[in-house]
Amino acid sequence: MLEGKRIVLGVSGGIAAYKAVEVCRRLVDAGAHVIPVLTEGSQHFIGRTTFDALGSEPAWTGLWDERHPIPHTHLGQTADLVLVAPATARVLGLYAGGISEDLLTNVLLATRAPVLVCPAMHTEMWEHPAVRDNLRLLRSRGVHVVEPESGRLAGGDVGTGRLADPAVIVATVQQLLAGEEHLDLTGVRLVVTAGGTREPIDPVRFIGNRSSGKQGHAIAAEAAARGAKVTLVTTSASPAAAEIDLVRVDTAAEMAHALETRAEHADVIVMAAAVADFRPVAVAPDKIKKSGGVPEITLEATPDILADLAAHRRTGQIIVGFAAETSDLRANAAEKLRRKGIDLIVANDVSAPGVGFEHDTNEVVILGADGSVQDVPFADKRVIARAILNVVSTLRSKP
Ligand code: PMT
Repeated sequence: MLEGKRIVLGVSGGIAAYKAVEVCRRLVDAGAHVIPVLTEGSQHFIGRTTFDALGSEPAWTGLWDERHPIPHTHLGQTADLVLVAPATARVLGLYAGGISEDLLTNVLLATRAPVLVCPAMHTEMWEHPAVRDNLRLLRSRGVHVVEPESGRLAGGDVGTGRLADPAVIVATVQQLLAGEEHLDLTGVRLVVTAGGTREPIDPVRFIGNRSSGKQGHAIAAEAAARGAKVTLVTTSASPAAAEIDLVRVDTAAEMAHALETRAEHADVIVMAAAVADFRPVAVAPDKIKKSGGVPEITLEATPDILADLAAHRRTGQIIVGFAAETSDLRANAAEKLRRKGIDLIVANDVSAPGVGFEHDTNEVVILGADGSVQDVPFADKRVIARAILNVVSTLRSKP
């Protein structure tokens, strides 16, 4: 897909520099001509020999290089895309401030090609107002961003700031270089739900499930990247890109309420959330005391949001549901597709390793009300999101 594309891969000095090796390899495998540009800091984390061997040409490390008298304009002007992974707070700050301090920041200022930055840093730095402002400024200038993930960081801390998965970075590069046809959802109003609802028992306890919201958030990010106007109704605290309208909810009732007005105007609705099927009839006003013995909790069914949306849909609206199954995947999903009256169902076998709840990866089969079946093999959730939206896009283009 990237045959013949010249990609400058800027690597700046953070522990995530080791992941840039994987990004480099994947880009070369996809057919790109990859030109590594290493900052001085990055070489404390990973040696240039690795990039000399894996890149399409030996790594560039400074402004004074025998290969070209003016390397930064040469690299900037001939690139089809400049990718910075990882992008440290320093590089983002210099780029936002228009300061050319080393070869990489010179290339960033000299290029007119699309630029994709993939920040990675400690959570405190990522959340610092200066970093947020720099990123906002860069975005407003058209710079593309793959947000960092949450997870384990250097030193054992856990939080947001980990470099995005190399597969997601490469998929985004492919998308940016694929051109206009990948802005196929421009102007489409898409509402997506994510995460597991929490149904309170008392002020401190709830009935919940293991959904992290990752799959729904990946769909929101992918749809926004393809030009859709996205509303994300989520129970997850994970961040979303600034252009996504983010609505945080907790319970099934709150999710249903949030969708009431928003779904009405949507062209596409995707229910990736794991909505509780049952909730306590009554919520205890105070914490239930252990001394009172084992409590009896009476449950009632929650409203089926997806079936309700389908029953009240406006003409032309496309409704996509998910099916989380542990056996008879296709048969159970096909039955849900019919019963809920929707257009597509995305079925995942959540008992398979690396599939479904909490993982960064998934594997699905997409069944259509028209009898269509598409298997999407094991991949990053962003790649799964892309496949789902491809099916949605095809469905929209049908008369
Ligand atoms: O969030 P992650 O950790 O990334 O995990 C992703 C996922 C496993 C949650 C996701 O891929 C998934 O399968 N989502 C649907 C989970 C689910 O609730 O499946 P279900 O088979 O129980 O429900 C079928 C459909 O009805 C779903 O679209 C669900 O949103 C919807 N539903 C269910 C109950 C209810 N009361 N109202 C609903 O709208």
